[in-house]
Amino acid sequence: MPPFVRDEYVYKEYLPTFPKIDYEPHVELKIDDRGHHADPEMKALLGAATRVDDLGACIGTQLDGIDLRKLTEKQKDELALLAAKRGVVVFKNQDASIYDLLDIAAYYGPLHIHSTTGVPTDPKLAGVHVVWSDGTKDFDRIDMDRPRSWHTDQPYEINPPGLTSLKVITDPPTGGDTIWSSSAAVFASFSPQFQAYLETLYALQSSEHQKIRALQAGTYIRRPQTDFVHPVVRVHPVTGMKALYINPSYTARIVGIPKAESDFVTKFIYSQIMECEDFKVRIRWSKDQVVFWDNRVLWHTATYDYYPYKRHALRATPVAERPESVSEYEKRTGEKAKNWYEEKMKALGEDISIPKAVFKPAGAD
Ligand code: SIN
Repeated sequence: MPPFVRDEYVYKEYLPTFPKIDYEPHVELKIDDRGHHADPEMKALLGAATRVDDLGACIGTQLDGIDLRKLTEKQKDELALLAAKRGVVVFKNQDASIYDLLDIAAYYGPLHIHSTTGVPTDPKLAGVHVVWSDGTKDFDRIDMDRPRSWHTDQPYEINPPGLTSLKVITDPPTGGDTIWSSSAAVFASFSPQFQAYLETLYALQSSEHQKIRALQAGTYIRRPQTDFVHPVVRVHPVTGMKALYINPSYTARIVGIPKAESDFVTKFIYSQIMECEDFKVRIRWSKDQVVFWDNRVLWHTATYDYYPYKRHALRATPVAERPESVSEYEKRTGEKAKNWYEEKMKALGEDISIPKAVFKPAGAD
């Protein structure tokens, strides 16, 4: 492949740079989730769309006919609620610039500013995370660790990212899709006994591999790297839905249980991310497409199949609340946290709230 010539590239101002800036360490922030302020029927947003398409049975909805630059505050609140419920919300053909998308992100909370990954040169874009492959070399087929590419964004922060947007500005003609999987639905697929066990656990989320990557590349680390312990099952503050909050990329281990048990449990859960096709949506990108997703209730991965083409995308994300465990949520709100499958069946008029049948051998009580 010929070398990439930065100066000839049409979006050169959005290429990643690694400025020598020192950011203050994060402190915990209290966030008022805008989804709490939304009309539960989301009439302002859904009513403005010319077409509403559910792309997957479990997650993913596409809204046509909406210009993101013209969203009202009411519509933004409803977008937060729609993403909380449907996980992934797709908008095609958007003229919104990354400056517009940062403004939208800032409506929901302070922007997440990454400690190590590349940012565009304009200091106003410090809150942008640049996704960039220049198309000159294929992914490393030896070091590639496919399961490990599944992640949620920055779970090692005190306040990890919430309603995230990604806009693709240069897309490969084919490949480079993104796949999302519902961590609420995977959790609800387990037995009540296993769910109850997971709800008691906490895990160490670590940014170690991003730090190592920065050190190997010789790029500047702009803030001391953080590791944080969060619940293995978190509750979405608006929907009250329980979701798994460990992932193959950043979770170092479940704490307070033997390492062998942590390895066993995490390996099983990660196998379920891979296997549960019914809880996924796969989005093929087109130029100027913007996808919003609720980082708290999903895992995602890009597909690494687009060499020899460029792929360039810009991500804007506000931080959300510090993840809350089931017991913390229930104590704070006085409400029972919800289970994705039970809610789905309830909506269909089927009551499965009575304990599921447990096998008992004849004669046992
Ligand atoms: C990300 O992991 O945040 C970006 C996803 C993608 O490149 O498709």
